[in-house]
Amino acid sequence: MSLRDALRIPASEITDEAVYRDRRNLLRTFAMTPALALSGCADAEPPAPPTATVTPEQARSGFRTAETLTRYEDITSYNNFYEFGTGKADPSTARKTLKTSPWSVAVTGECARPGTLSLEDLVKGLVPEERIYRLRCVEGWSMVIPWLGVPLGEVLKRFEPTSKAKYVAFTTLADPVQMPGIRYRSINWPYREGLRMDEAMNPLTLLATGLYGKPLPQQNGAPLRLVVPWKYGFKSIKSIVEITFVERMPKTAWHDLQPSEYGFFSNVNPNVDHPRWSQKTERRISGTASKLFAERIPTRMFNGYADQVAAMYAGMDLKKWY
Ligand code: MTE
Repeated sequence: MSLRDALRIPASEITDEAVYRDRRNLLRTFAMTPALALSGCADAEPPAPPTATVTPEQARSGFRTAETLTRYEDITSYNNFYEFGTGKADPSTARKTLKTSPWSVAVTGECARPGTLSLEDLVKGLVPEERIYRLRCVEGWSMVIPWLGVPLGEVLKRFEPTSKAKYVAFTTLADPVQMPGIRYRSINWPYREGLRMDEAMNPLTLLATGLYGKPLPQQNGAPLRLVVPWKYGFKSIKSIVEITFVERMPKTAWHDLQPSEYGFFSNVNPNVDHPRWSQKTERRISGTASKLFAERIPTRMFNGYADQVAAMYAGMDLKKWY
């Protein structure tokens, strides 16, 4: 009897574990060969997006799902936040060294009203909304999370982006004193992400400040993180300190590490496999099911948000722009 049979672990779970280890091995390789890590080729720009509008009804229908919620304990103990270590338990078990108040965010680049604002001023006057979204990690697991937050578009409008603002770039704090994982070059710090302007303005895109009605814990990206539910989880950047309007597609952390595996768009897509594993199904961590034996379900196009977002990619070859 193999070890797997002895433990009664389904093959699908073994695959997940292998994927996870693979991702860490990749990081180790890059840490040892910095030149390779930084050799991402200059990317071409994708075609200009179609002007797509989402009706308020379409948008609203994506704001909540009736699927079983993932337990608070699981959402806050099974995390990816490499600034606190690469293990799933590292971010929650790390000492709570991240000082989340006072917190300020610099808004820079192609806009008429740049500035550095306290978190309170950044979201002033906007009432936090509850959004129950699916979160699909590129590694093949997923959760259903009740977030609290404000629409990113509402915040961005206040800075009056100019016509040159085609993309928005986001940066996470990178402080080795507050974040022990920064000592290791697992990622070319700071963690950076980006969205095309229409993606940033889509009503689904959230700047989250809480979950389950409580403030965000350190491990989930306190005090302010992005949530882009139709994209793989790594686009949902945590603990944001800078937002920049830019004309060209910005460099992003995972894409920099391995451009052939992590595209700029990274829309959830069961028809485009990761080069080293399938993206057709996912391990849903929800209800009281254990993480290891969680049910495997089919992955949906755009993570089930096609009605709200597919029009933004009309005419785009999603195999090329993965
Ligand atoms: N943001 C930063 N700054 N650092 C990270 O390591 N991990 C990403 C994303 N945002 C990450 C990050 C990945 S891979 C995922 S799947 C989600 O955060 C996980 O969010 P969660 O831990 O709240 O579930």
